[in-house]
Amino acid sequence: ETVVLAYSGGLDTSCILVWLIEQGYKVIGFLADVGQNEDFEVAREKGLRLGAEKMYIEDCKKEFVEEFIWPAVQANAKYEDRYLMGTALARPCIARKLIEVAKKENATYISHGATGKGNDQVRFEIACYALFPTIKVIAPWRMENFLSRFAGRNDLLQYAAEKNIPVSATKSKSWSMDANLMHISFEGGELENPAIAADSDMYMMTVSPEKAPDKADHISIEFKGGFPVKVKTHDGRVLEESLQLFVYLNEIAGKHGIGRIDIVENRFIGMKSRGCYETPAGTVLQEAHIDLELLTMDREVLKLKQYLKREFETQVYNGMWYSPECEYTRACIALSQNVVDGTVHLKLYKGGVYVMSRESPRSLYNQDLVSMEVEGDHNAADATGFIRLNALRSREFQRVKRS
Ligand code: ARG
Ligand code: SIN
Repeated sequence: ETVVLAYSGGLDTSCILVWLIEQGYKVIGFLADVGQNEDFEVAREKGLRLGAEKMYIEDCKKEFVEEFIWPAVQANAKYEDRYLMGTALARPCIARKLIEVAKKENATYISHGATGKGNDQVRFEIACYALFPTIKVIAPWRMENFLSRFAGRNDLLQYAAEKNIPVSATKSKSWSMDANLMHISFEGGELENPAIAADSDMYMMTVSPEKAPDKADHISIEFKGGFPVKVKTHDGRVLEESLQLFVYLNEIAGKHGIGRIDIVENRFIGMKSRGCYETPAGTVLQEAHIDLELLTMDREVLKLKQYLKREFETQVYNGMWYSPECEYTRACIALSQNVVDGTVHLKLYKGGVYVMSRESPRSLYNQDLVSMEVEGDHNAADATGFIRLNALRSREFQRVKRS
């Protein structure tokens, strides 16, 4: 029977590939290009050499940006106030493509190398069941007959040596990484002790703020309906294609050391984990988008939207992208974005992104109304009654409390 394996080319999924063949499966390798820096042709060759019947390498970059990252930008999504969810957003994108391949190949199974302790197993599998209800999942890291053979990394290495599985010569780091266009995450290994600081050489998309240039760069981002549609670069170029402008923002923000975090977070399955993340473009876009939203969005709509943002963060983090509630949340958030048009001018400097100014054809900001210099269309005397009535509840509360 056929199984489509989400294959990365690394040690774990290479061993899983060979192990699945040993168990009697026909294996088709699947590798999604979501912008991780990788030699896909090497991975294709390796998969085929290890016995995969076929290798699918699918370019998902543009859809990742437009269908998954952009909605997160619209939402200002930040799980537990800190994590921009680069991994959580990529999973439903990868799973959708994986299922396309599984359907095309008439596969009975999909398989992945996510551990039994993490979020990714949950995200992959929930997305796959949603999009292909009859699919069956082989999760080796939760299977007795796999775990009894592979207790740890040494067993994998030994198996690789036995089965002629090439292991990359570069001295491998102790932590595990997940890289895509939006971020790189680092977890595990020596990062497992949250009391020990991470090595700043670990990061790959960003320089450390101390090493960032002493001279700031200025850029502008134009949004339409809450989507970034145009970026004016630090050297005066104009970028309008989504993938291109996102890649540029990664480069320029990375150069200025923007978007690193080191956090402890709550995994869906219950445990806390320590992770480090670098999300340069995502960090810049969120700052700019929040600023423009405050210029253009009504206060009470904003309040409702902030409630939906909270829900959206949990839905995405927990792997519920294809759930009814998440489709609803995305649609409502998208509706709130009709007014979010305009341009935000930013300064990037030593790890920081600073909003310098903003402009919008849909600005609700009325300078005459707010100005301390002119009266505008405002009757100051109205404020007297407004304030007295707003004090009413507190006055009554305090009166009763004292007595
Ligand atoms: N903790 C992050 C998340 O749950 C990152 C997970 C990284 N995944 C990985 N396979 N290394 O989204
Ligand atoms: C894994 O367990 O495979 C990585 C971490 C996570 O999914 O949360």
